[in-house]
Amino acid sequence: MATKQREAKLLPEVLEFLTQPKRLLIGGEWVEAASGQTFATIDPATDEEICQVPLAGAEDVDRAVSAAREAFEDGRWSQIDPRKRAKVLYAIADALEQKAQTIAQIDTIDNGKPVGFAFGEAIHSAQVYRYFAGWCDKVYGETNPTAPQTFIYTLREPVGVCGQIIPWNFPSAMAAWKVAPALAFGNCTVLKPAEETPLSALFLGQIAQEAGLPDGVLNILTGDGENTGAPLAAHPGLDKIAFTGSTEVGRKILQASSISLARVTLELGGKSPNIVFPDADLSQAVPQSAFGIFFNSGQVCTAGSRLLVDKRVHDQFVEQMTAAAQGWKVGDGLEDGTMVGPLVSRQQLDRVTNYLAIGPSEGAQVATGGKRVEGTKGYFVEPTVFTGVKPDMRIAQEEIFGPVLSVMSFEDTDEAIRMANDTMYGLASAVWTKDLQTAHKVARGIRAGTVWVNTYGPSDPGASFGGFKASGIGRELGVHALDAYTEVKTVWMSL
Ligand code: NAI
Ligand code: MG
Repeated sequence: MATKQREAKLLPEVLEFLTQPKRLLIGGEWVEAASGQTFATIDPATDEEICQVPLAGAEDVDRAVSAAREAFEDGRWSQIDPRKRAKVLYAIADALEQKAQTIAQIDTIDNGKPVGFAFGEAIHSAQVYRYFAGWCDKVYGETNPTAPQTFIYTLREPVGVCGQIIPWNFPSAMAAWKVAPALAFGNCTVLKPAEETPLSALFLGQIAQEAGLPDGVLNILTGDGENTGAPLAAHPGLDKIAFTGSTEVGRKILQASSISLARVTLELGGKSPNIVFPDADLSQAVPQSAFGIFFNSGQVCTAGSRLLVDKRVHDQFVEQMTAAAQGWKVGDGLEDGTMVGPLVSRQQLDRVTNYLAIGPSEGAQVATGGKRVEGTKGYFVEPTVFTGVKPDMRIAQEEIFGPVLSVMSFEDTDEAIRMANDTMYGLASAVWTKDLQTAHKVARGIRAGTVWVNTYGPSDPGASFGGFKASGIGRELGVHALDAYTEVKTVWMSL
């Protein structure tokens, strides 16, 4: 669709936001990068520039960390009545919900995703703030059993100043998963959105200010990995680093954190197994498995990218899955009926099309898809199903991060579990069966942070999330967010 036609679909508030000059949020002020440098954020549906955004550098990182430190130390957020914190987080949640259409369009333009899905994500983000708002005044310590001459209790205190680096696949949700728990437990933060999708984070900054968040509590730096992310991760003034992205960069973050000894949580890649037993209800398993790999154009850390099917239902399943894949309509995320938007960037397009070539060269067959969509400058790729995949092929081992499914077959439950665990990752997994013993056996057998039974992909603010193995360190959401964003202090009283 031509740019003008696309603009006609945008809400006035979105057009207004897009034409505003973009600034960094530091200490409550909207400022240019110290260097004055900017970069273009690109619309992946058209390969055209949306607008320029500040490229924050080391000096901006320094200013933002100092602003967060000052806000943290003077207690304007960390030491107020927790119910006042809750009130601000509820206000952010309400505003996100009211402006969900606006945020959805911003993310669709910036990321490419279908606007209906982007809307669902914005609503989920509001729910995350609301969930953590509820936590503000429910942070309890313990009374420890001790000898009679002492009284020992624990306090849960905020960690302090956080650096939070997020990816582009769920721009509004990833910001919420990071910022909401950090703020709920009294921390101050510097958020760095991905260079591919900086816009909805800047919009969040406006919302947070209007909701009454004190200056300096949330600072937002747009920029890339090299200029912005790296100096943020290595900043000596951080108490905590939270990162979601590639395993490769996760390793760098961990190294960088050795300077500050900041506490680190990492949510990294995955190659999640989706296991189908012969007694599965295929009328559910097929469409939801298609959702598991084609949702968000497969750019999901928990994507069900390895389909393990019992050999007795393999052919039937592949036939139905192929038909389902063909029903996932590729197109402009702003158009009605689009299910699969473009990939986020030229880099991701190159990466995914490279795997589309690797599959057949390793001996896999293309059941459907297998190509970039021709005749458009956008970064569109066909939903693809590879069959005849062997566990040691690259398309069975490496995270593709596109709408590309690798299908393998197994003989029995033990083999299914063995195959499921045969990657360096351990983020998510699913099992489809009506048999309780099989479901529980597989749930125990899989080394992954999430196991879905007879469903694929749901997320809930109350459900803790994170990875085993190379998929990360720590847990986000749910009760475990408390461990990520608080320090335990033990107080000894001599009696
Ligand atoms: P990435 O890991 O490079 O980017 C994620 C974030 O980290 C961005 O904000 C980026 O600016 C920042 N970053 C990059 N280098 C950094 C550094 N040295 N220090 C600090 N921050 C840094 O991911 P990228 O390049 O966008 O995608 C590559 C692959 O990573 C994807 O194909 C996919 O396999 C995986 N990935 C996984 C995600 C997940 O949700 N687990 C999300 C995004 C990517
Ligand atoms: Mg990168």
